[in-house]
Amino acid sequence: MRIHTLTKSLLTSIAFLIGVTVVNQASGLELINDSEHAKGKALVEQYCTGCHRTNMITRSSGYSADDWKSLTSTMINLSNQPKVEQQLFNYLATNYSPNTLRTPTLLGGETKISFTQWQTPTLGQRSRDPIEAADGTIWWAGQRANLIGQINPNTGEMKEYFLPENAMPHSVTTDKAGNIWYTGNKNGSVGKLDIQTKKITEYKMPDEQAKDPHTAIFDEKGILWFTLQHSNMIGRLDPITGEIKLVTMNAPRSKPYGIKIDDKGTPWVACNGRNCLVKVDPITMKLTDVMLPNEATRVRRLDIANDGMIWYVNSSQGKLGRYNPFTGEIKEWPSPSGSKSHPYAIAVIDNMVWYNESGMRPDTLVKFDPITETFQSWAIPSGKVYAGIIRHMRPTRDGDLLIHQSSTNKIIRVNIE
Ligand code: HEC
Repeated sequence: MRIHTLTKSLLTSIAFLIGVTVVNQASGLELINDSEHAKGKALVEQYCTGCHRTNMITRSSGYSADDWKSLTSTMINLSNQPKVEQQLFNYLATNYSPNTLRTPTLLGGETKISFTQWQTPTLGQRSRDPIEAADGTIWWAGQRANLIGQINPNTGEMKEYFLPENAMPHSVTTDKAGNIWYTGNKNGSVGKLDIQTKKITEYKMPDEQAKDPHTAIFDEKGILWFTLQHSNMIGRLDPITGEIKLVTMNAPRSKPYGIKIDDKGTPWVACNGRNCLVKVDPITMKLTDVMLPNEATRVRRLDIANDGMIWYVNSSQGKLGRYNPFTGEIKEWPSPSGSKSHPYAIAVIDNMVWYNESGMRPDTLVKFDPITETFQSWAIPSGKVYAGIIRHMRPTRDGDLLIHQSSTNKIIRVNIE
């Protein structure tokens, strides 16, 4: 054991000195070496590390063999290799059986909800960010599989549209006419799928430093606003002229993430790399930083209520926050599952705040009532298991909520009664 640790840290220091990373090897070592199921470990390394590291497995909530099968059937099809399946799932079930490492605190309450789930076709696509279009169909981004998809919620029929090379869409949104827009996170573009002709138009970033369009939203005037997390920029695209303008954040590594627009047409951005919210002047694109209390605060996403209050998830501190743009007051509430709950996506519907605790397994959906200051929460199902993370949630026009689970490629409608 000592030798093993020493070797690992030695490797890490050498790697550090020569500037390479040993992350992959290190996380490979984490898998339990189970001599009885030695083949199982090798099979996991063979079949389960193509899309993510093995820490997905070591940090999971653990499953029975049946449930491991059910979970991974949304990622990879091994059904034509029954022997491999059996060895793999026995190894996983023996060494990664159900645990309580990340069990959430669930709170009861008056609100009743139900979940309608759709399983997207392409395996392992990391489907995410569902949004309702003008015609009532639901669109999502299949980030890993370079596609965007459409669900007809009445029939359950789904269609997938593959995107230009290496777009790897982080998100989708829609314009008033019902066209679908995606952020090309890997090829420095935003793109439009014309809803009539199904033709895709790519708009390339005018600056090669602008590499990773992330989350996008239209304002009332039809301008598309978007964040570029690692490029540390905010952009705007006028679809009529095709012109793109970019501004760099006031501070380095602010990591602009979620973006929403208030009723005056002013975009607000969440910082995932610094303790700030940022207000964007829609004409000059001048940025004003609103500093949040704790320096360690990191905010994935925000939303704006009808009364103008800006609600945000304090992801790093496990809190829900509210910024009052009229008085400057900031208030925060600890999320029910505590400091490691990592709240992520957020949407305000009829002045009720909805968000998820993505650090927990099951991932929980939380409702907060700002008047009574009370929480209610639910475990989010992924078919027959509990797994996955909501990364973006948006309401439907009739006041329900669209969510997803990126591990299991589920798009889910939360029917709020
Ligand atoms: C084709 C790609 C792909 C393959 C192959 C794949 N996965 Fe995954 N898996 C994913 C994606 C995508 C996620 C979600 C990652 C995210 O949300 O960032 C995921 C998430 C997970 C999770 C996390 C579940 C949770 O609680 O959120 C586990 C556990 C997991 N995979 C296990 C496996 C195992 C075991 C195998 C091999 C049998 C496997 N994966 C093979 C794509 C894949």
